[in-house]
Order: sequence, then C-alpha cells, then structure tokens
Amino acid sequence: MSRMSSPIEQVRERLSSACRVTVLTGAGISADSGIPTFRGPDGLWKNFRAEDLATPEAFTRDPALVWEWYNWRRELLATKEPNPAHRALVSIEGKMETRRAQFHLLTQNVDGLHGLAGSRNLIELHGNIWEVRCTGCGAVTEDRRVPIPIPPYCSSCGKMLRPHIVWFGEMLDSDDVSRALESLEHCDMMLVIGTSGVVQPAASFASTARSAGAFVVEINPDASSGAAHVALRGRAAEIVPLLV
Ligand code: APR
Repeated sequence: MSRMSSPIEQVRERLSSACRVTVLTGAGISADSGIPTFRGPDGLWKNFRAEDLATPEAFTRDPALVWEWYNWRRELLATKEPNPAHRALVSIEGKMETRRAQFHLLTQNVDGLHGLAGSRNLIELHGNIWEVRCTGCGAVTEDRRVPIPIPPYCSSCGKMLRPHIVWFGEMLDSDDVSRALESLEHCDMMLVIGTSGVVQPAASFASTARSAGAFVVEINPDASSGAAHVALRGRAAEIVPLLV
C-alpha cells in the first residue's frame, strides 16, 4: 500500500483482496435515489409518528390508516430507481464471486432497490414494501399494485393482508438474523453505508464485525457508528462507485 494512497484508495485496495465482505446499508444509500431517510432533516419520522403507523398496535387499531400510509410510500417508491451506489455494490459482488470471495449484503431498507439493481446475496432484515403477508395463513406474496385496495384480503384464506415489514416492537426473522450474524462473525471487511446506527439489532453489527477482526469502513456524510476503522465522509452515490 503506497504511502501517498488516500483513504478511498486504501479501502479500494483492501476490498480488492478481501476474502469475505459483509455490507450493511440503511436509508442513506437510497437517499440518492430521491427517497427520504427516516431521521434526516426531511426524514420520514419528522412528518409522521412511527408509533402511529409502523407498529402492530397501530395496525390492530386502524389498519386502513396504516395501509393509507404504506400506499403513500409505495406510490413514492414506485418511480424510484437504483442509484450508482446500489449498482456499484452489484459490481463488487460480481467481482468477488469471480475470484471465489464471499459477499453478503444486509439491508435495513424495505424499498427493494438492492434487488432491483441485481444484488444476489441479499438479506432484507426489515422486510420489503412490495411484499404482503396474510394475518391468517401467513402466506407472503409480492404485490406491486399502486395503490393496493384498502384493506387487502388474502386470496386463499380471505383474512386481511399486512405489509411484510418488520415493525417497531417486532422480532426480525430469526433465520435472517442468524445468517447475518454468521456473515459478520466471519468477514474480514465490512462496509457500513448510509445508516444512523440507532435501531437494533443492525446498530450493533459493526461492532460485532470489528470484534471478530474485520476492517470496518463507514460511508456516510455524517458520523454515525463508532466502530469504524476508516470513515469515508460523503454521499454513497459518489463514494461507493470509487471502490469498484
Ligand atoms: N449517502 C450516504 N449516507 C447518507 C446519505 C447519502 N446520500 N444521506 C443521508 N445519509 C445518512 C445519514 O447521515 C444517516 O446516518 O444515512 C443515515 C440515515 O439514517 P436513518 O434515517 O436513521 O435511516 P436508517 O439508519 O436506515 O434507519 C434504520 O430505522 O426507522 C427504522 O426500520 C427503519 O430501517 C430503518 C431503521
């Protein structure tokens, strides 16, 4: 590694020889696709109360209101495209696959943009806004209707459908969590992109990887996780393509 290399060059060099890379993304990676984050200046939680909309209690109390909010978000997301940061992660995954290295992408985002960009080894920890789950039989299906009729009912058992999203106060899918932890405990490098690191369990992922010996890089205009060895300050759409 040359003495004069910049932090970005150092990260790119490390990435080019890493054997097991785990990436964690949050709303910040989709900000450059025109999707508001949750806690930024124009954040979603500035205009809506999460406890009124993104909890099982809210859904029990007023399913129509919750579905109206999700219809509003689906309408907003329906026109949004993956940005250069999403696409750069797909290239990095492809290059690592070619050299038989392992790549895992863990996202807290429910916008579906990583899947749309072509990411393959992807775990959507908080679910996907384009999927619905039956409150009766539990069937999970993709439903891209915008708007979805309120309230939607299951075509097989007739019970009400809910967004297939992990709400506040709900547990993440245990299989997702164990696969995520497995990748964190065995990675030699971790990229933490566009997350404020305030919501568990994802908020502890960077320190889990660091204590397992991984080199942790944070990509964010602001400071967030204290566990990073290197912080690349800036927008994901500008920085991540420079790592390919
Ligand atoms: N590029 C990179 N990072 C950015 C950008 C950008 N262009 N714009 C903003 N950010 C950073 C912000 O500095 C902040 O640290 O993205 C982060 C967004 O933080 P949050 O809005 O808290 O989103 P996130 O961390 O994904 O929230 C986690 O909380 O509300 C729940 O379930 C929801 O998945 C969400 C979880």
